Amino acid sequence: MARRKLLFGNWKMNKTIAESKAFAKESKKLLKLATAKGVDIGVAPVYLSLETVRKTNPKLTVAAENCHFEDHGAFTGEISIPMLKEIGIDWVIIGHSERRTYFAETSETCNKKLLALQANNMTPIYCVGETLKEFEAKKTKKVIEEQVKVGLKGLDAAYVAKSVIAYEPVWSIGTGKNASKEIAEDICSYIRKLVDKLYGNVSKNVRILYGGSVKPENVHAYLLEKDVDGALVGGASLKVDSFKALIENI
Ligand code: 13P
Repeated sequence: MARRKLLFGNWKMNKTIAESKAFAKESKKLLKLATAKGVDIGVAPVYLSLETVRKTNPKLTVAAENCHFEDHGAFTGEISIPMLKEIGIDWVIIGHSERRTYFAETSETCNKKLLALQANNMTPIYCVGETLKEFEAKKTKKVIEEQVKVGLKGLDAAYVAKSVIAYEPVWSIGTGKNASKEIAEDICSYIRKLVDKLYGNVSKNVRILYGGSVKPENVHAYLLEKDVDGALVGGASLKVDSFKALIENI
């Protein structure tokens, strides 16, 4: 079965509840457009807006931007998976580079989160990617290998098949310096090969996204690549018009 294209907006720490609600209302039109194009779409708002967005457009896929791996306990400021499930959230972004860089997230903690999501039958968007220093030192594949191997350790093949992995080179995030389509394809196909080595045939089902300065002008080129199944978009996903242009240009 062909992998469906997926366009996901990571809103990061942007939008109040009211602003998120306004977008969610408009997203009904976006969803219609995407469905007509055969593309899946979703957004990841801040925790506070999750329930509002989900209730405003129950058909839109809504992801949390993070979660804790424990169900409850003394973890001040954290949100657990049962808390997300209670408000109908079943997708979560794990291991975004901003969390790895600013909040000391490691592939080991990501692995704990992915195992907990698996136990709750929730879909992860697991982010991997190298820093500029690692890119310049030609260590990209080594870094990706560690992030994929350690992050996905112990998961069931059937769960991996339903998961989403996003390749986001840190140097391309929010910088306007998007990776070339050749780099994106090279690393996305490398990730697929790694998944194949670890989990076999399910590698054909895993959706692998590219993220990093994706804009309406460049989204099409990435999506033409064999192993790039969609995009994880930050800045260009915040405005309805820009999100619409992303869908139109796929
Ligand atoms: P930008 O699209 O703003 O570069 O952000 C990418 C990203 O980090 C998505 O998760």
